[in-house]
Amino acid sequence: MSEERLYPPSPEFAAHAQVKSLAEYRDLCERSARNPTEFWGELAERELHWFHKWSSVLDWQAPDARWFVGGKTNASYNCLDRHLETARKNKVAILWEGEPGDQRMISYQELHRLVCRFANVLKSRGLKTGDRAVIYMPMLPELPIALLACARLGIIHSVVFGGFAAEALKTRIQDLDAQVVITADGGWRRGKEVKLKPVVDEALIDCPSVQNVIVLNRTGSEVAMESGRDHWWHELHEGVDEKCPAEMLDSEHPLFVLYTSGTTGKPKGIVHTTGGYMLQATMTMKWIFDLREEDTYWCTADVGWVTGHSYIVYGPLSAGATAVMYEGAPDFPQPDRFWRLIEKYRITILYTSPTAIRSFVRQGDQWPNGHDMSSLRLLGSVGEPINPAAWEWYYKVIGGSRCPIVDTWWQTETGAIMIAPMPGAIAAKPGSGTLPLPGVQAEIVDLKGNPVETGREGFLIIRNPWPSMFRTLWRDPQRYVENYWSRIPGVYMTGDAARQDNDGYFWVLGRVDDVMNVSGHRLSTMEIESALVRHPAVAEAAVVGKPHEITGQSVVCFVTLKKGNYDQQQLGDELRKWVAKEIGSFARPEQIRFTDALPKTRSGKIMRRLLREIVTSNHVAGDVTTLEDLSVLTSLAAQHDED
Ligand code: PRX
Repeated sequence: MSEERLYPPSPEFAAHAQVKSLAEYRDLCERSARNPTEFWGELAERELHWFHKWSSVLDWQAPDARWFVGGKTNASYNCLDRHLETARKNKVAILWEGEPGDQRMISYQELHRLVCRFANVLKSRGLKTGDRAVIYMPMLPELPIALLACARLGIIHSVVFGGFAAEALKTRIQDLDAQVVITADGGWRRGKEVKLKPVVDEALIDCPSVQNVIVLNRTGSEVAMESGRDHWWHELHEGVDEKCPAEMLDSEHPLFVLYTSGTTGKPKGIVHTTGGYMLQATMTMKWIFDLREEDTYWCTADVGWVTGHSYIVYGPLSAGATAVMYEGAPDFPQPDRFWRLIEKYRITILYTSPTAIRSFVRQGDQWPNGHDMSSLRLLGSVGEPINPAAWEWYYKVIGGSRCPIVDTWWQTETGAIMIAPMPGAIAAKPGSGTLPLPGVQAEIVDLKGNPVETGREGFLIIRNPWPSMFRTLWRDPQRYVENYWSRIPGVYMTGDAARQDNDGYFWVLGRVDDVMNVSGHRLSTMEIESALVRHPAVAEAAVVGKPHEITGQSVVCFVTLKKGNYDQQQLGDELRKWVAKEIGSFARPEQIRFTDALPKTRSGKIMRRLLREIVTSNHVAGDVTTLEDLSVLTSLAAQHDED
């Protein structure tokens, strides 16, 4: 990675920015380090609405944090009601375009009305504070509406990305004992309907806790409705009142649970609470996206991932932004759909992923060059390391060499951006997230927790609590402690490797655990392995990530088979489809490699490290159909100490 080129903010950009200079940034850092509770306390008071003020800013008994203890607030109130007292009431809150080209522009006032009505619908179905709602929807305005309605009442929501299959949906509903599922008949992607309701029906066969399914009519295709359980969204709205006061919730009331992949087959339910999460989501809209009243801001993520939670819904709406939402694929009907949207709505801030950027590079400059994108003033990147070549392309071709790029490092667990350049203050280096936010003590250490030398690779940790940190894992507090806080006691282990350069800039290199990052989506090797061994022909499976030009990594599976005669080509195809059906199409393996044995340690642990080396260096030849002889490796591995 080149560290040579520095991209300082232009004087014009810096002059109008929320944070205007490196000195100003350093001052914020210093204040936050000197007295973190005073720092965050002042911001919380200024930036959020509280029904009752907290008695103390932070109660930290590592690894348990409580922020704004005793404070009463509401995320939905902060995103909606408080703006109605200001000129923002008629400002567009959500500017939505469907894949077929339909549009909706919903003002803050109108959004408030829609959220209140849906909250009353939820109440009328008997739902109340503390209940759990699973939301499985396409990218429609009703998705944020559902989130905000839940938040209004203190119903804990859990969005399941629409690409997940029935099995994955089922395990999440079961883990939460959810009372309600909110879904749609389907959505549009690349001109075809992606059906959702049949997936819900399949998932619900084994979910006795669900008493209500609310179905939005989007595509109009025929769906089965189970009498008594399933209800149409629009029918439930008939005659419903528009008034629904926001509940005064404890600052630590859980706002949502979002599942993410860990190192075992079971996904982790990341629990976020209200006050601290809202504060950091709001602050990063200002510090990192430099949000101004007149901006038209577009984050291209799906609300099914944490990026969509924090930077389509809670952050932008709390900060009073106009947030663009788009339902469909970036290349439909042609590869210039994104650029069309930017030109049409005069979008000023674009936040997307390196995978998307790399696929745009491949499609060619003619697509963006055919559009007037002079409205853009700031670009963002998230989800995976961005390679300097893709960064430079983004800067020149999309940003017209005029827009700062904020490369934002964070995680589902952190809730909000942790390391990223404040665009008016910090000079960017392509490929680096640059410096941590004020109040975030990021460091690179060895396994004993000692700082490593400048330039050396080590483990990225966060030493202190931060407001938007996750509080626990749903119904698994022990795993919370073991996974994140035990390797170095009391210190948050991110699971990423990174290094710091001479300027103190952070360079995140990737995961150090058995988690892969495919197209910026976290996938667990174990989750895919568990799916594979559920197939009747599979004896054992080991899954690793392989570097991939567009998606960052791709999924490669090593599989041993039970006795029998198989057509390997056919079985390989079948297993790829099987994984897509068990988890979701975004987890579909690129390769299935058949082998007669897997390299293991003496205690029988599969040595994925060796397999990673094989797929990376490719010194063991093989494609989908060849049977690899890993027995040599197996016996070699057996002679090594366990790792
Ligand atoms: O490995 C890091 C990578 O994505 C992981 C977090 O994934 P997830 O919880 O799904 O959240 C993604 C959206 C915030 C991290 O552990 N990652 C995320 N952003 C970056 C990144 N790696 C390098 N640079 C980034 N900007």
